[in-house]
Amino acid sequence: MGKVYVFDHPLIQHKLTYIRDKSTGTKEFRELVDEIATLMAFEITRDLPLEEIEVETPVQMATSKVLAGKKLGVVPILRAGIGMVDGILKLIPAAKVGHIGLYRDPVTLQPVEYYLKLPSDVQERDFIVVDPMLATGGSAIEAVNSMKKRGATKIRFMCIIAAPEGVEALQEAHPDVDIYIAALDEKLNEKGYIVPGLGDAGDRLFGTK
Ligand code: PRP
Ligand code: URA
Repeated sequence: MGKVYVFDHPLIQHKLTYIRDKSTGTKEFRELVDEIATLMAFEITRDLPLEEIEVETPVQMATSKVLAGKKLGVVPILRAGIGMVDGILKLIPAAKVGHIGLYRDPVTLQPVEYYLKLPSDVQERDFIVVDPMLATGGSAIEAVNSMKKRGATKIRFMCIIAAPEGVEALQEAHPDVDIYIAALDEKLNEKGYIVPGLGDAGDRLFGTK
């Protein structure tokens, strides 16, 4: 079963409060999502492998550590996942970025895929799929299905707010995928929105409502 990690860092929790607030406008919402994504990227990269190299300091030679050249890929689920990409790339600038376009049918709540482009060396990369919201889990499950069909084997999922229903569904569909979240909320409402959540992440990021 995939593990669930909740990032309870005070800075993440503080910024999360302001993106929940309905009076936060588009500009500030976008900036906060970007900052939260950077802080989450810091936490999710804790286990990156290191190797030792020799470096000459002004004093003498030293053995010191650098990242072991692991190939990372970031895959935002369109639209709202795009809001997290730049924040992650600030810390992992060499990561390749794939895109997966999915929208949730408002009646059936089923995900509909409309775009997919992944790095060509998909088998060799460790992927982080990102989307601010994990609600029913349908979009995340479909995104991982599509990536696995194209050969991805190492996938993690990172979102800002998750509903228990979505976490359970994703764990059941993809037990090999660990889930990283900033907040585990209470439930879904009858329209499939996360309660208390933050509303429609895509609309709030792009000002479309
Ligand atoms: C939102 C959100 C997730 C999805 C989560 O996207 O960004 O992708 O809903 O819901 P689920 O877990 O029930 O699938 P939406 O479908 O509203 O599309 P958009 O980003 O294009 O607005
Ligand atoms: N998608 C969103 O943007 N918000 C929710 O609460 C659920 C799905």
